Amino acid sequence: MHILSPSLLSADFGNLQRDIEMLNQSQCQWLHVDVMDGLFVPNISFGQPVVKHIKKYAAKPLDVHLMIVDPGRYVGEFRDAGADLLTVHYEACTHLDRTLHAIKDAGMRCGVALNPHTPVSLLEDIIQECDLVLLMSVNPGFGGQKFIENTYNKVRQLRELCNRKNAKSIVEVDGGVNTSNAALLYEAGADALVAGNAVFKSDNPQQTISQLLKP
Ligand code: DX5
Ligand code: ZN
Repeated sequence: MHILSPSLLSADFGNLQRDIEMLNQSQCQWLHVDVMDGLFVPNISFGQPVVKHIKKYAAKPLDVHLMIVDPGRYVGEFRDAGADLLTVHYEACTHLDRTLHAIKDAGMRCGVALNPHTPVSLLEDIIQECDLVLLMSVNPGFGGQKFIENTYNKVRQLRELCNRKNAKSIVEVDGGVNTSNAALLYEAGADALVAGNAVFKSDNPQQTISQLLKP
């Protein structure tokens, strides 16, 4: 199973509807939506009102990545805005188990994101609750950064952890993904790739999406 989730952070915010309709016509399965609060990460992107508008035009599930402090506060609001899959950062949750259950109780699938410095082994006691684990392959906050090579090791470690614990979590990689590293990431065990700049700065985004799915 290969899933591609183009990140709207690199879309043209003045023409979001046009860019979403392009993604609707493409082979991608999800739309990746990056929410940043200027505290957990240095950047501020957009919040629930914009997600609501994205939902209005999107024909595919919204894969919402919350880069915000204490995301448990906003589970209901992002569900109402249209999130299908809601991912929170391990580093931002004091009571991660409670937050994941709140997401599932609200009717969404739940994901946990790990920053590049956070070891996969910290998921040992929570992996069975995770519908998805997102491995950050750049420091979160901005699109267009350079891929961190240690991510391949983390993908393999996460795959091994899922196998050992018989967990069915989707393994997603986010940051610096492009047509040169996509094949290696799938080979290491990734199921889903997020790509912002690689898609939206391409001369032919739809073709790049197909290439990222079958590199
Ligand atoms: C970074 C975001 C990513 C970002 C990826 O903090 O989580 O989703 O949009 O962009 P690229 O693919 O350009 O690195
Ligand atoms: Zn993201």
